[in-house]
Amino acid sequence: MEFSERISRISVSSTAAVVQKADKLRASGVKLVDFGAGEPDFPTPDHIKQAAVRALEENFTKYTPTGGTRELREALVERHAKDFGSNYTVEEGLVTPGGKQAIFEAVMATINPGDEVILPVPYWVSFLDIINYAGGKAVFLETGEAEGFAVRADAMEKLITPRTRMIVINSPNNPTGAALPCEEMEKLLALAARHNVLLLSDECYSYFVYDDPPFSLGSTKDRDHLLIVGSLSKTYAMTGWRVGFALGNAKLLANMLKLQSHSTSNPTSIAQKAAVEALRAPQDSVRAMLAEYRRRRDRVVQGLRAIPHVTCTMPQGAFYAYPNISAYLTRDGLADTTVLAERLLDEAHVAVVPGPAFGTQQHVRLSYATSLEHIDEGLRRMTAFFAKF
Ligand SMILES: Cc1ncc(COP(=O)(O)O)c(C=O)c1O
Repeated sequence: MEFSERISRISVSSTAAVVQKADKLRASGVKLVDFGAGEPDFPTPDHIKQAAVRALEENFTKYTPTGGTRELREALVERHAKDFGSNYTVEEGLVTPGGKQAIFEAVMATINPGDEVILPVPYWVSFLDIINYAGGKAVFLETGEAEGFAVRADAMEKLITPRTRMIVINSPNNPTGAALPCEEMEKLLALAARHNVLLLSDECYSYFVYDDPPFSLGSTKDRDHLLIVGSLSKTYAMTGWRVGFALGNAKLLANMLKLQSHSTSNPTSIAQKAAVEALRAPQDSVRAMLAEYRRRRDRVVQGLRAIPHVTCTMPQGAFYAYPNISAYLTRDGLADTTVLAERLLDEAHVAVVPGPAFGTQQHVRLSYATSLEHIDEGLRRMTAFFAKF
């Protein structure tokens, strides 16, 4: 069978590959500590689940408008306005089956073959494949670990060429947990405006910041050079429900909607009802999750830093730690982080994602969206594993 040239440009998400291997081990009875999966371990809050049950009982089980019900789009822009001081209209909000779909549609709607997209490294794995799928050319902006993986507007500007069409930022960041200061994000937006390129700001983790109040570039009220992508997946522990969104220029959203209308159609009807509840109800569960993630972050970073020769920047947001384990590479057959992660899984039964998935060779990613008990056990196993080398 022959396949398209287009599909050969992408590969299965390497985070998904780790999850699959971990699942297999678990199924065979192994007691795994799983730092692999990038999703909250919390269940979806009850009041949100109940809204979906009600939707089922009321037979809200048919197609909805492709871009989400008006009720949900209203709830979305209201929540965003309340939390971030934005003023999007309902027409400037699009609901998608997950934030990933919003990114896919935005890139497909704006990038022609050969167009350049600036992507800071480390990057979330799907950005690169989506850019490649669209025929775009990813231009990498290397960030410094010593500066906490900060993306700087002056460094970004040096990479802009006449072919640049888009800049991608993701703060708080997956995989590093780095959160950019809002002034720097505003500088990046001003830069995008100056060069007339689109800034795609992936704000899927915007509610999970530890030191500063949550921030969205949407507060700048730019409609010409900014697209916000967000998700209910992490904020409300709703990964399986598939509800994400985009906020921005209504014409851009209309073009994204065309693609959605011919591919996924509307996000699931009952998930949309649950999403309305998530956005409109009191936000206590979000605050509770943030407090718990903070405890876990402190524990995981302290534990990683206690392993000899391992360094780890302090994540300021999201729920990932990105330790540098390069001191162990080349020791005793640990050729690279992929081999190291495989051995860690096989020998210590700890799942982590190797750095090349995110564009770096010296790191592994740990998701600490798992219990303190698991974190302690995982750190014990990792400490013993590294002691062998
Ligand atoms: C940075 C980033 N953006 C977007 C997504 C997409 O999330 P979802 O499609 O579940 O909304 C993820 C999920 O891991 C992510 O880490």
